[in-house]
Amino acid sequence: MRRSNLACAQYAAIAAAAVVLAVASILLSGCQGKESRKRDKVIIGLSIATDTFIIERWNKDIKIFTGAARDRGADVIVQLSAGGTKEQIAQIDFLLARGIDVLVVIPHDSEMLSGIVKKARDAKVPVIAYDRLVMGTPIDAYVSFDNKEVGRLMAKSLREAVPRGKYLVVNGSKRDNNSYIVRDGLWEVLGPAIARKEISIVDEIWLDEWSSDEALMRIGAVFDRTTDIDAISCANDQIAGAAVQLLSEYRLAGKVAVVGQDADISACQKIVEGTQLMTVYKPLALLAERAADIAVSVALRNTPMPDLTVDNGSGTPIPYYVERPYAVTRENIDELVIRDGFHSAEDVYRNAVDKEKKR
Ligand code: GAL
Repeated sequence: MRRSNLACAQYAAIAAAAVVLAVASILLSGCQGKESRKRDKVIIGLSIATDTFIIERWNKDIKIFTGAARDRGADVIVQLSAGGTKEQIAQIDFLLARGIDVLVVIPHDSEMLSGIVKKARDAKVPVIAYDRLVMGTPIDAYVSFDNKEVGRLMAKSLREAVPRGKYLVVNGSKRDNNSYIVRDGLWEVLGPAIARKEISIVDEIWLDEWSSDEALMRIGAVFDRTTDIDAISCANDQIAGAAVQLLSEYRLAGKVAVVGQDADISACQKIVEGTQLMTVYKPLALLAERAADIAVSVALRNTPMPDLTVDNGSGTPIPYYVERPYAVTRENIDELVIRDGFHSAEDVYRNAVDKEKKR
């Protein structure tokens, strides 16, 4: 018995161990199941900065991105932060606590997110910068348009319309890395003409925020000094709208060449009415769908081959996925903006005089 007892006792112990093991593996597989269930269903955290939801384009970005992510079997938790970078950091902390698999962020301030981004990546949550680059810390991907080309397109349109004359330049928010890249593209084209004294810069403004109110105030202060201006480069259509509003108060709307960015509906209407010369159209669907693709791939640990790499001051080359922007004028607005379904002809030509509608 003893032996047999021993044998029995051993069998009992082994059986008990087997039961414990079985239970453990079910639990584990259960967990693993939950893990793989979580993995199979990627959860994307989308953090969007302050000024964005009063700017027309971002509503489109959010809508297309979340739709595209869902089409790829992912869930998206969207966080809009009102009030600046502090709130955006709190929002990202909240997303991390929700167990997201990947973070997609549109930074309010490109320089101020390196701490929370490092925290996310230390927690094995990859980070993707959408449209605006996060500076100063390694990230997993940057998906945006060619923002230098945006600046070149703006400058080329102004140079064509005003080969000689006085220019006012209104750059975007100082907190947004895009503002500097767009400005570099502008200067690549304007610089040589300035050197040849074909054009002169009456003033160059840097905004604190992407705010049309701030633009009204700052451009208004320039107009108080002088309205002897032939061309105005505005970093986005909201700023262009402020410039055209002030020009109309001086009865100069349509007489001064104004360019912007984003192909907002009001800008497209001004272009067919003749009070704005050009805007930069960025096919947002291409960007948002590509970003959704990349977010899901990166979450599943297979980062797609980038188009380029970009330096964000972290010492690590960042995979950069680039989409092309287009110059939109009265001549090509139908084939670019309307044919793409970005705006309807009805909306674009809403205020246009009859002769325009018959085009
Ligand atoms: C920039 C973006 C522009 C414009 C601007 C204001 O980062 O590239 O398209 O919308 O923000 O929100």
